[in-house]
Amino acid sequence: MDVSMTVNGRPASGKVEGRTLLVHFLRDDLHLTGTHVGCDTSQCGACVVHMDGRPVKACSVLAVEAEGAEILTIEGMANPDGSLSVIQQAFQDHHGLQCGFCTPGMVMSAAALLKDDPHPDERTIRDYLDGNICRCTGYHNIVKAILAASENASIAAQ
Ligand code: FES
Ligand code: FES
Repeated sequence: MDVSMTVNGRPASGKVEGRTLLVHFLRDDLHLTGTHVGCDTSQCGACVVHMDGRPVKACSVLAVEAEGAEILTIEGMANPDGSLSVIQQAFQDHHGLQCGFCTPGMVMSAAALLKDDPHPDERTIRDYLDGNICRCTGYHNIVKAILAASENASIAAQ
């Protein structure tokens, strides 16, 4: 089946099977390997991307369901000049990662939260990240990074 969508602001198309998951289309066909696969039960959140502005687990969406959609992946999160976005910089500054496997999904979820709620409290952040598993950090510095990013109003534009 033919599928086409916009990924990180650019047109992207390909041929997929009906069962092809969006995460596999992104990784295998478009070579956007920043979106990770960390489970086969839709629990870990390593695969979170934005689809038409909303966070989705790309392992739970068929590629054909994204036909015509606007997809944003971690590769599209940096600023146009290549510098880190506010949320990415906050993760770096506050040591919000160790192995980094969960980080793309964490950043995409955090960006979605801050778009909806630019100044969440710690409880809200922890609740929102319920669908993102980190096996390294204990979450403390991830929450700290998101709180720090929330202090920068420019995140709301992302
Ligand atoms: S790979 Fe999608 S939730 Fe784990
Ligand atoms: S930093 Fe290793 S799983 Fe989160």
